[in-house]
Amino acid sequence: MSDRMIEVADLRISFSSAEVVKGVAFEVARGETFGIVGESGSGKSTVLRAMSGLNESWDGRILFNGEAVPKRRSREFFRKVQMVFQDPFGSLHPRQTIDRILSEILLVNRIGEIDRRINKALSDVALPQTARFRYPHQLSGGQRQRVAIARALIAEPKVLLLDEPTSALDVSVQAEVLNLLADLREEHGLTYVMVSHNLAVISHLCARVGVMQNGLMVEQTSVEDLRAGNVSHPHTQELRRLSVELEDVPAEPSSVSQAKPGA
Ligand SMILES: Nc1ncnc2c1ncn2[C@@H]1O[C@H](COP(=O)(O)OP(=O)(O)OP(=O)(O)O)[C@@H](O)[C@H]1O
Ligand SMILES: [Mg+2]
Repeated sequence: MSDRMIEVADLRISFSSAEVVKGVAFEVARGETFGIVGESGSGKSTVLRAMSGLNESWDGRILFNGEAVPKRRSREFFRKVQMVFQDPFGSLHPRQTIDRILSEILLVNRIGEIDRRINKALSDVALPQTARFRYPHQLSGGQRQRVAIARALIAEPKVLLLDEPTSALDVSVQAEVLNLLADLREEHGLTYVMVSHNLAVISHLCARVGVMQNGLMVEQTSVEDLRAGNVSHPHTQELRRLSVELEDVPAEPSSVSQAKPGA
């Protein structure tokens, strides 16, 4: 069993004639959370969408669990690699109950025991069973994001791709959802790639981070070095300087251990 869960090499993505991702490469160890930071428009979401299979127009190599993925992914792939988006309102169908939202992915994947799995998924994300027959607008923002995480987890994936999963939430709810993600990572042996603008959010969950600027990953560094300011690229220094929220979210709880690459 390879220790490397994700490998991205020479990833290039263009829209019309404009190349917006210009040869990005990184690796993520099994059980690790790799952060991606960088200014707006630098290509972070575009990288994640290509990894998730939502965008099939890319060049380069993307490997999950040692296997290169084809442009068009299998149903099995979508079961194993799930994406969580920034806006839980936008990503949940407004006219479907939570029950329907969660059962759909089970039906598509022909996974049985729907009742048991929905109850388990709700309790995994600490939502009351009463949430099951509500609509998204009848829940708080934090609860909606818990539903989005429950939906991502219900088919028992190996990898979660998280695109700003907490930036639409209040700071206090942010910390709750981040702690939840850390707990779920341990319990389910998950590997995460998480995009965030917020270095405090990144340092809560990630051991390593890649910094993107203008379609390139200009630096990869440990979060410790980032916090200590031991970073070489001027853009990383600038991001760090601008991150006034750095101390807003408490540091990662000590009960959560981080898998280090190669460990
Ligand atoms: N579907 C698309 N069609 C054309 N251009 C796109 C498309 N999606 C993204 N882009 C362009 O690609 C570049 C990278 O966008 P991307 O959404 O990946 O940035 P980002 O780093 O996620 O930014 P943000 O932090 O604001 O979310 C931007 O210039 C954007 O305008
Ligand atoms: Mg984005």
